[in-house]
Amino acid sequence: MDSRRLAYLQAMGVVAWQPRSGAVAESEALPAAPEAAEPVSEAPLCMDWEALRQTACACRGCVLHETRTSVVFGVGSPDAALMLIGEAPGADEDRQGEPFVGAAGRLLNAMLKAIGLSRDEVYIANMLKCRPPGNRDPRPEEVAACGAYLERQVQLVNPKLVVALGRVAAQHLLESDASLGRLRGELHEFGAQRIPFLATYHPAYLLRKPTDKRKSWEDLKRIREVLAR
Ligand code: URA
Repeated sequence: MDSRRLAYLQAMGVVAWQPRSGAVAESEALPAAPEAAEPVSEAPLCMDWEALRQTACACRGCVLHETRTSVVFGVGSPDAALMLIGEAPGADEDRQGEPFVGAAGRLLNAMLKAIGLSRDEVYIANMLKCRPPGNRDPRPEEVAACGAYLERQVQLVNPKLVVALGRVAAQHLLESDASLGRLRGELHEFGAQRIPFLATYHPAYLLRKPTDKRKSWEDLKRIREVLAR
């Protein structure tokens, strides 16, 4: 069993035991004690847009369902060439049910405009669909519980390029602990479809550290260049 399936099982509250031969026997997985969150499954990986949205909007796969106002599913063109992936909704997004609508969202719109793109032409989603209280970092079990929704969104959009916004999204999506400084220097591949993947600064970070906007502009030009190929 690969690590992603194991993470899903853990998020489902299922304990998979390891026989002496070394292979994990999924069929003999033992149910753990009942948890507050409902089980999630890989079923989203077969869904169309409507079923996926409805399932995500009813999700109770991790504790974040207890504190959310809205499920922030994603927005934009389902045929987008560019898909942007952030970390998790903040307070504004939780209130409005749409990713990147606060100050960071306005900067993101301006960054897109600088390379000739509008918000409607791209697809924007987050790793987590629900807001972590106090904007704390996502926990591994939350990322695992939400993973199939994002994976299916990427499959359905099938973009030419995926861009991670910020260190947290970049590290999780690339399964790397390298610094954002290192990750943004390279063109990576993402997922089973091996979609070209770039990492860049999170717009909220750029609001705090505007001097890095110069480096962000280099990333934007690279995004434009990959899209033009
Ligand atoms: N930060 C994110 O990563 N995503 C949002 O939707 C808003 C802020």
